[in-house]
Amino acid sequence: MTAEPKSPAPAPRQRYAVGFSGGSGIAYGMRLVEVLLQLGHEVHLVATGGALRVLKHEAGAAVDLARPDLAGLFAPELRSSLRVHDLAAVEAAPASGSAGIAAVILCPCSMGTLARVAHGFSSNLVERAADVALKEGRQLLVVPRETPLSVLHLQNMLKLAQAGAIVLPAMPGFYHRPQTVQDLIDFVVGKILDRLRIDHAIVRRWQTPAPNASPWHEGEEP
Ligand SMILES: Cc1cc2nc3c(=O)[nH]c(=O)nc-3n(C[C@H](O)[C@H](O)[C@H](O)COP(=O)(O)O)c2cc1C
Repeated sequence: MTAEPKSPAPAPRQRYAVGFSGGSGIAYGMRLVEVLLQLGHEVHLVATGGALRVLKHEAGAAVDLARPDLAGLFAPELRSSLRVHDLAAVEAAPASGSAGIAAVILCPCSMGTLARVAHGFSSNLVERAADVALKEGRQLLVVPRETPLSVLHLQNMLKLAQAGAIVLPAMPGFYHRPQTVQDLIDFVVGKILDRLRIDHAIVRRWQTPAPNASPWHEGEEP
């Protein structure tokens, strides 16, 4: 008998803050927000000016840099739990330790934003939200994207990890035999969800490979 792929158990509704900054890979951030909304969570979204420029280049989106419509990137039925904030809005919920934000995820995270957060700068809402997560002892996940990495980049990542952040580079694996770019994106987003302890079914689960058997769960072979 073939087992049905398991559906994620419903998780209690949480409030997350997602910061898009100007690293390549805006698709990772967009998919993360989409999945969080699909799973019923509330998402507070902020984008830097760099992120908007990357969005324009990478997603082919018609982005008005002066009046960006980030909510318009997501399906209408998902938008009711999405709160988009202006980058300068340091009075918005993610800027406060008492707003009940469960975790802050910077995805993608540029080396510029990474450096400023590592040094405690809070010059905009993305950086302030990250700073608040660290001071409140809440989860801060940074998803840096750059290559090669300079000593400064590496030192800033170490600084953040030592301060309690989770550094989760946008480094998709290939052992799940990706067939599409979407598979590569979902690999990274699945890792983020795992660190947030959010159950999901966007990536197949690996199991101990037995001789002559597939390492994939029954019914889930690629
Ligand atoms: C298409 C494009 C791709 C970029 N990719 C990266 C990248 O992968 N990593 C990075 O650190 N910066 C990248 N940059 C540069 C940053 O966007 C730039 O340094 C920006 O000032 C970062 O500002 P922010 O941290 O406020 O978002 C890219 C820029 C563009 C236009």
